[in-house]
Amino acid sequence: MDTREDNVSAFNQFRENWIRPALFFGNNPISLAGGAITTASALTMVGSWLIDLFGHGNGNPYLGIIFFLILPAFFILGLLLIPVGVFLRRRKLQKAGQIPAVFPTIDLNDHVFRHGLDVVLVATIANMLIVMLASYKGVSYMDSPQFCGQSCHVMAPEFAAYQVSAHSNVACTECHVGSGIDSYVRAKMNGTKQLVEVTLHPFAKLAPKLIPDYPTPIPSPVTSLRPAREVCESCHTPAKFVGDKLLVKTSYADDEANTAAQTVVLLHIGGRDSLSHLSGIHGVHLNHMEYIASSADRQTIPWVTRRNGDGTETTFAASALNGATPKGERRTMDCIDCHNRATHTFQTPEEGINQALSDGAISTSLPWIHKEGLELLKANYASQAEAKAKIAQQLNAFYRSQHPDVLQSKGWLVQQAAAQIYAIYARNVFPEMKVTWGTHPNNLGHTAYPGCFRCHDGDHTSKTGKTITQDCANCHNLLAVEESKPKVLSDLGIAH
Ligand code: HEC
Ligand code: HEC
Ligand code: HEC
Ligand code: HEC
Ligand code: HEC
Repeated sequence: MDTREDNVSAFNQFRENWIRPALFFGNNPISLAGGAITTASALTMVGSWLIDLFGHGNGNPYLGIIFFLILPAFFILGLLLIPVGVFLRRRKLQKAGQIPAVFPTIDLNDHVFRHGLDVVLVATIANMLIVMLASYKGVSYMDSPQFCGQSCHVMAPEFAAYQVSAHSNVACTECHVGSGIDSYVRAKMNGTKQLVEVTLHPFAKLAPKLIPDYPTPIPSPVTSLRPAREVCESCHTPAKFVGDKLLVKTSYADDEANTAAQTVVLLHIGGRDSLSHLSGIHGVHLNHMEYIASSADRQTIPWVTRRNGDGTETTFAASALNGATPKGERRTMDCIDCHNRATHTFQTPEEGINQALSDGAISTSLPWIHKEGLELLKANYASQAEAKAKIAQQLNAFYRSQHPDVLQSKGWLVQQAAAQIYAIYARNVFPEMKVTWGTHPNNLGHTAYPGCFRCHDGDHTSKTGKTITQDCANCHNLLAVEESKPKVLSDLGIAH
């Protein structure tokens, strides 16, 4: 009996001291406006989710910013305005001495009032649900490649390369944001910093010391990348990449006929076999190697050490070191040291044009197109828009003056070639971000960039005089080098 009476009196107190005053003071323009803002943004959000749910949503990241970031902010602003209004009205009435001794009565037996209480209760629960859903939506939106790659033109180079990569269905966050709340928060702080820098960018030039600006190009290596083996091996298990891989590359000569030639390489990728033996390129480096780079971009590596099966280490050092150990971070070699361009693979102009010619995107029947295309790709343009106009204009001018017959009979192939040459340019060169040919070197290989030869250059020697191998056959069998119609391809039944 007692407890029940206690409950009733507690409720009465709550009603006298809180609900009645809240209803009384809440009746003010600020609180009412807050309520209206909250309701309106809630209805809009619910509407946009329904549209999303039924599949009529649109992938535009700018709309996304409104629905997932700005509307929830309004929603919360509205909620905050309600107590602010209550507080102001109370203070004003207090000053004027108009606070009633007894607030207008509330009677729980009065069904109109009970109904009002129900409404307040239901509205509160609904509000909470909406805030929860909105923040969930906002968070998962900020995780989407649209947000990371498209909302912000600073990421344009990385996003363009990402879209045509084998990983175009892997979310940016899979590789760039670690698991756990701390790396999540760090990534979002980093993103917010970037957003601020992008917003302030137009003013940064006026006061370079005062106003932060984003770096152009965005530097790599990315020091905050989560540990590569943890990331990559969540999808690629080392047990699965055992064996050799046949690489066929087609290149074209700078002659009138764009003569094609092929290089065929059998790469000894290796990996871990069913008996846990490590072999080949993957096996030997993933066993355990550490190195020290002497340049921030890790392109110069004068010192590397390999842990042997018996626990001893063999160190290979560049001759210029004279036996000293260089200063710097001792990094354990992982996937990124070779696959640094696993997703954002920027091509060289040669790779771009060779690929377009062998795909048939640019017709090999156009005389001199390889040579002309390369020259147009390598020229300097102030912007992508200028590149687009000039490439088309100059390719046309070339055929008009040198091969008018071609322009007449195959004019549309010339237009198509111009469009494709520009497409290669636009995937790889971003003048606004100072990303151009060679800005982001690819470490996989050794022909265009140092790559493997950062260590396998014949100059890294151990104390016993052993040198890191430069023997071609250790890494690959060269089955054909720039041959036209190599026999090995027809033997294998590979068309060319
Ligand atoms: C499969 C993994 C993977 C995915 C998915 C991925 N990245 Fe990367 N990203 C990398 C690696 C690896 C590097 C280079 C790291 C290094 O060199 O240290 C990198 C580098 C970058 C850089 C630094 C500049 C540069 O080019 O080196 C930016 C910016 C970037 N990524 C943005 C993005 C964005 C935006 C997305 C999604 C649209 C994305 N990444 C998706 C792996 C990934
Ligand atoms: C979420 C899963 C996932 C993650 C994480 C991932 N990959 Fe992949 N990777 C794939 C898929 C799927 C393919 C495409 C396979 C295909 O198209 O045949 C692929 C293809 C590749 C290829 C060969 C295709 C090519 O031509 O580029 C390489 C090399 C590769 N990944 C390396 C990496 C590296 C290095 C990392 C870590 C930075 C990584 N992957 C992280 C799923 C993943
Ligand atoms: C010492 C350099 C090196 C390291 C370290 C390395 N790789 Fe590779 N990887 C290669 C080379 C070289 C190739 C073949 C390149 C090609 O296909 O053109 C390759 C190919 C691959 C492929 C594609 C296989 C196929 O069938 O196309 C995958 C997937 C891959 N690596 C994943 C990884 C992962 C995951 C790691 C880290 C655990 C890793 N690699 C570490 C050099 C390396
Ligand atoms: C950070 C330095 C470094 C880089 C970069 C590097 N390697 Fe190595 N590699 C080594 C060292 C050290 C050894 C072990 C040499 C020894 O023990 O004789 C080695 C051994 C090898 C071997 C085994 C050689 C043998 O004698 O059987 C192969 C194959 C190989 N590397 C291929 C590659 C390829 C392919 C790349 C580029 C994709 C590459 N390496 C990049 C340091 C490097
Ligand atoms: C440390 C390992 C290593 C050594 C030593 C090595 N290569 Fe390579 N080479 C590679 C890798 C890895 C690739 C594949 C690059 C890719 O995936 O595009 C390659 C590719 C090539 C290609 C194909 C062309 C191209 O543009 O990719 C040629 C040609 C070639 N190597 C020639 C040689 C010759 C000749 C030697 C001996 C003097 C040699 N390589 C030594 C690792 C090596």
